[in-house]
Amino acid sequence: MRTWSFSSAGTLFFGRHAVRHHLGDACNRLKAKRAFIVTDAILVKAGLLAQTTEPLAAAGVSFEAFDRITPEPGVELVRECVAAARACKPDVVIGLGGGSNIDTAKLVAMVLAHGGDPLDYPGDCRVPGPVVPLICIPTTAGTGSEVSPAAVFTDTANHIKVSCLSPFLRPNFAIVDPLFTVTCPPKVTADSGIDALTHAVEAFSAVDNDAFPLPSGEKSVYQGKNPMADMMAGEAIRLVGRFLRRAVKDGSDLEARDGMALAATLGGLAFSNAGVALVHAMEYPVGGAVHVSHGAGNGLLLPYVMRFNLPQRVDQTAQIGVFLGRIEGNGLGELADSAIREIEQLRRDIGIPTRLRDLGVTEEMLPGFAAKAFAIKRLMRVNPRMPQNEGEILDIYKAAW
Ligand SMILES: NC(=O)c1ccc[n+]([C@@H]2O[C@H](COP(=O)([O-])OP(=O)(O)OC[C@H]3O[C@@H](n4cnc5c(N)ncnc54)[C@H](O)[C@@H]3O)[C@@H](O)[C@H]2O)c1
Ligand SMILES: [Zn+2]
Repeated sequence: MRTWSFSSAGTLFFGRHAVRHHLGDACNRLKAKRAFIVTDAILVKAGLLAQTTEPLAAAGVSFEAFDRITPEPGVELVRECVAAARACKPDVVIGLGGGSNIDTAKLVAMVLAHGGDPLDYPGDCRVPGPVVPLICIPTTAGTGSEVSPAAVFTDTANHIKVSCLSPFLRPNFAIVDPLFTVTCPPKVTADSGIDALTHAVEAFSAVDNDAFPLPSGEKSVYQGKNPMADMMAGEAIRLVGRFLRRAVKDGSDLEARDGMALAATLGGLAFSNAGVALVHAMEYPVGGAVHVSHGAGNGLLLPYVMRFNLPQRVDQTAQIGVFLGRIEGNGLGELADSAIREIEQLRRDIGIPTRLRDLGVTEEMLPGFAAKAFAIKRLMRVNPRMPQNEGEILDIYKAAW
């Protein structure tokens, strides 16, 4: 058996009012006196910035907020945010928001510490050392970025989402307060919730840690399926099965919000150790080319990729159905098929698109997407069935088109 490791944010606070009770403490432990907060206008309006700055003020931490992040930001906006942060000279960077804001906060902390441009760092393990201390406060239940080593943004010139992956991008503190997700509208709840499911499914279905095909001399933050990531992924899938429909239907259902917040963090812990794979690789070119959220793009592609992977992952797929709590059939094959159909049903119930053509993708775009996805080797190698050529990926895109 190969060794595996498990990493997270330095400290995780979880629970209702966690920000009010623990943000000041987190700053004190970092000896931070000046915070730069990365957020957006919608969250300011929802009162979440005020709920974040109150405990800062009480702890004697001065702050400045950049509140202009837009979903899935392009590199130009990230650069603007970095420039504002440079002028602020913070000793802690706080990401307040969904993955878009949290990831921008990570990129800011990285560029402040090491200079250069955000586009100098995409790829695996290319951040040279520790970044400015980071505290991340999610306001969606989805990405798990508050515990992950990833920071995603859009390379606008090349029409693709890119990701910087480094152990140095795991936040010092993750503060997960489910009450911060209550104002999410149904679409944001649905899209980010199915992203959490995708993380857990890709981690649970990943290539075995023993067989992880890492060429010698290369580094990866991902390491394949392992028992600890499996525990987190399984529980995340169970929570999504139980609570995602409820959270979408009634945003004020606090039990459902608690459940989804935990599902998202557990999904983040699972994928950020085991890895995400072909669904994410295939979503990056789609998300760079047409207007679709990361979560909706993943949710659309997930069942198609699960069918592609099925020959290698019948047992695990059947097990995913058991976690979801709604499968039927005799024998592993039928159970696995029923698990995929349940995910398709969940997708319909919460309003995730089911066809790429409905997003404005044309058939002519598909070969270019396949080439770009196939080139993301760090994700391909996590997939339990490694695509042998672009043609195999093109076939999946065609099925999803
Ligand atoms: N770093 C990682 O590990 C990781 C993992 C998965 C995805 N991502 C990235 O994260 C991004 C997606 O993040 P997301 O799904 O969290 O969405 P998001 O951050 O893009 O936010 C979507 C919208 O929801 C709004 N919103 C967020 N919280 C709200 C709240 N509580 N009330 C009202 N409105 C709210 C935001 O203002 C925004 O308009 C993508 O760029 C994706 O690639 C990163
Ligand atoms: Zn994701």
